[in-house]
Amino acid sequence: MAAAGASSAGKDGWSSKTAFVLAAIGSAVGLGNLVRFPAEAGSNGGGAFVLFYILCIVLIGLPILLAETLIGRHGQASAPQSYRKLAEQSGASKAWGGVAGLGVLSAFIVLSFYCVLGGWVLNYIWLFLSDLFTTGLSGGAFQGASFEEVEGLFPSMIGNGPLTVGMDFLFLGLTLLFVWRGVSGGIEVAATWLMPIFFVLLVAITIYGAFGGAFSQTVSYLFTFEPEKLTGPIMLAAVGQAFFSLSLGVAGMVTYGAYVGRDVNLAGTSVIIAGADTAVALIAGLCIFPIVFAAGLEPNGGLGLMFQTLPHAFQEMPVGSLIGLLFFIMVAFAALTSSIALMEVPTAWVKDKFGLSRHVSAILVTLGAAVLGALSALSTGSLADFHPLGFIPLFEGQGVLDTLDTLTSRVAMPITALLTAVFVGWIADKRLIDSENGLSGGLHVFWRFLVCWLCPIALFAILVAGIFPSIIG
Ligand code: PFF
Repeated sequence: MAAAGASSAGKDGWSSKTAFVLAAIGSAVGLGNLVRFPAEAGSNGGGAFVLFYILCIVLIGLPILLAETLIGRHGQASAPQSYRKLAEQSGASKAWGGVAGLGVLSAFIVLSFYCVLGGWVLNYIWLFLSDLFTTGLSGGAFQGASFEEVEGLFPSMIGNGPLTVGMDFLFLGLTLLFVWRGVSGGIEVAATWLMPIFFVLLVAITIYGAFGGAFSQTVSYLFTFEPEKLTGPIMLAAVGQAFFSLSLGVAGMVTYGAYVGRDVNLAGTSVIIAGADTAVALIAGLCIFPIVFAAGLEPNGGLGLMFQTLPHAFQEMPVGSLIGLLFFIMVAFAALTSSIALMEVPTAWVKDKFGLSRHVSAILVTLGAAVLGALSALSTGSLADFHPLGFIPLFEGQGVLDTLDTLTSRVAMPITALLTAVFVGWIADKRLIDSENGLSGGLHVFWRFLVCWLCPIALFAILVAGIFPSIIG
């Protein structure tokens, strides 16, 4: 494999720069862009939230994205080993590998509950598929069903343990299928097929939805500037969302960076990845809300937007069964390319650490994620009253799924990102970093300033505010 993006000879790596960029975009674009961003942007201050989010992407996300990919490309190994190698060459403690170790653990945990949500999406594909067969193409979706019935599909699904666990396993199995086949033979194949189809579906559904007539209402909902809504907790949510959306703080971009050839300019690819991820988040808003408003519905926040409001809106839409089916297929594709990245991180680590084959490593990771995932899947049903860390205020009243989400997004991921910024900005040998980052002149100085100062300070604030939410009210 001699193409442009491939890593060192004999090792599995991306077959081209495009393959790397598509896979990294595939990792970044996921449920975060399609579910969380539109819901938060709409209800949290519209244009002010969007502007603040973009600032977070540019000033904090982008510099860390470059830092993570360059550590990986330099190390050409699993994330902890790449950190360790750079630390050793810089005369620093090998313990810096532990930072990536925490990232690997987070990736594993996020994988376990991300696949539960992926399973919910698969179930909705099934619902719309069966609806298409029964109602056909003549009108909206779920004909004859009342709003309450369609809305009720969601609680009855998440309360059904065998169904959520089964769908979780199915989604995990699909993820394994690609990780099993390796970087160029599996992960890259998923990215190069699924991501273009995803983009086409997103744009097509957005254009179709725009004909419903509620486009201007959407634009004012998403972009009206309401800075007074931009409170501390909401700003915190925006930064956290920017990080999650770019797949940072879980060693994901370090792992993907390890498969990149030396000829690739990482600064350039980081800008493309962050730009595409942000564009998809914005287009997702412009896709979802016209459908919701055209049906005369009020958008609700959180998961209800995707799993309750939208299915109801498809009821009112011409050929709603088909559009609903295509919509959830699109979401599944985005989620799958993200879960593949999440599985690759611990798989690469197990492979490196214990000298096992990719196949055995991927199976071990899958089995672990299945056990933890089953607990998350049941936490919206029979295990709803089990609050594993409920004695700690931050996790009070949270079931397994919410606990794992809080633990990773509020605690572990910001710690990993913060220490990564400190590592690249202050600890690692400057010459080594500069030989990898693809920057020069003023941009280089600016990036250094962001990594050395702004990112650590902002991330420290995020960490403290995330763990002690009462500080910011
Ligand atoms: N960026 C993904 C999303 O927005 O849904 C989530 C994610 C994927 C986080 C892969 C971390 C990761 F390594």
